[in-house]
Amino acid sequence: MDHHLQVTDSRTGKSYKIPIQGNYIRAADIGRIGAPEDKEDIASLKAARPLQILDNGFQHTACMESSITHIDGLRGTIRYREFPIESVFHQYVYEDVMHLIIWGSIPTQQQKDHVREVMGQAMNPPQSVKDVISSFPRDAETFPMILAGMSAFASTDSVICKTRHQQSAMFHGHLDTADEALARTIAYLATTISLIYCHKNNQPWTPPSVSRSLLGNLLHMMGITDPRVESCLAKLWILYADHEMTNSTAAVLHAGSTLIDPVSAVTAGIICGYGPLHGGAIDLAYEAFRHIGTAERVPPFIERIKAKGGRLFGYGHRVYKTRDPRVALIEELLEEHRDAVEANPLLRVAMAIDRYANQDPYFVERGLKANADLMGCFLYTAMGFDTDMIIAITILSRTPGALAHWRESLTQPVKLWRPQQKYNPPLAN
Ligand code: ACO
Repeated sequence: MDHHLQVTDSRTGKSYKIPIQGNYIRAADIGRIGAPEDKEDIASLKAARPLQILDNGFQHTACMESSITHIDGLRGTIRYREFPIESVFHQYVYEDVMHLIIWGSIPTQQQKDHVREVMGQAMNPPQSVKDVISSFPRDAETFPMILAGMSAFASTDSVICKTRHQQSAMFHGHLDTADEALARTIAYLATTISLIYCHKNNQPWTPPSVSRSLLGNLLHMMGITDPRVESCLAKLWILYADHEMTNSTAAVLHAGSTLIDPVSAVTAGIICGYGPLHGGAIDLAYEAFRHIGTAERVPPFIERIKAKGGRLFGYGHRVYKTRDPRVALIEELLEEHRDAVEANPLLRVAMAIDRYANQDPYFVERGLKANADLMGCFLYTAMGFDTDMIIAITILSRTPGALAHWRESLTQPVKLWRPQQKYNPPLAN
């Protein structure tokens, strides 16, 4: 059956039929509605200004059509391509899921080997990248170091450099070139993070090998040899591999819509990923745990947040109004690594916060629960990573997902992203 909205514009008396397709209406159909700005003006269509949609924070606006990930925030389900997240989590490791998300299928061994080779080769940093990272003080924040490392890598990649000097689009409609550039972008980020880790810990950096997976090489380059870390992250990363149109993925696509190269587009996503309301919330959540210190001090802390209308970082999510399905899967991993997790005193504070928030009407009524990103951090902490490094690694685990969306955008018509604003004239003095 054909569904539509029947709308009458009271300014003009005109009626419009707006088609509804799968619970979406097209903004262009809203743009057919219009009225002259000046009521004295003749009601000519030429003078009519198309109706605009004001949607602060894009809460009701879809900006892409995608077949990669489906999240149902009301039912609490996630699908990667045709698979429920629970089934990929139990059957596969991250390397398989990365391939599924970017290229649409679980890879054959040959496909895996090819990706390993392209990434493994690109992971070898030129001296300029090493110099840039080692020029930072050892206690510098990871965030600016990543931006510097990625910029240094971009300046040495001739294909990436050419993007801004080419009349025709280099990646749109050229998926072979795009695939190679995409794989190199992920590799650059892995190397940058590993160089930062080694520099901060004043330890030697280990060169990558083309026989290892992305995750295997990251840990290898960092000098982390405990096999528990790789097996834990090979599962945990599946849960962060993609999350459809997140703020950072949108940033990658926004930058990508200018036809910029994938390293630069991913850098835009990294910047968003470190924002306090996004991935950076983890740092603030941990800071709060340290500040609270003991479980007894949790109730007054939360009451202060409620009274001041502040934020409990690591809580809440734009999409989920029910339980995030990733949380149950993270709990399986937490159970598996229970001893290492419970050795972390901050977790006792986090658990006390969770108990308090779960029965407090403020959080219950607003559907605010610990988000999966925070829960996953307890595993990272158990594996010995600092929060600063956790955010970096989480961003790396998401980058293939963001680039899957970038790749998908290359198969669609080029359209520069350029939102509108509602202009409010200044008040007269
Ligand atoms: N602590 C306290 N109150 C909160 C929180 C929180 N963490 N999150 C939302 N609220 C309250 C708001 O004050 C608002 O209350 P009101 O209705 O009385 O005004 C209500 O819940 C709705 O909040 P919004 O800001 O409208 O919700 P939105 O969907 O825009 O925000 C967000 C989602 C940004 C994640 C928010 O929950 C938040 O700020 N959380 C803390 C930061 C955080 O953990 N971010 C990481 C998210 S996961 C990720 O990005 C990787």
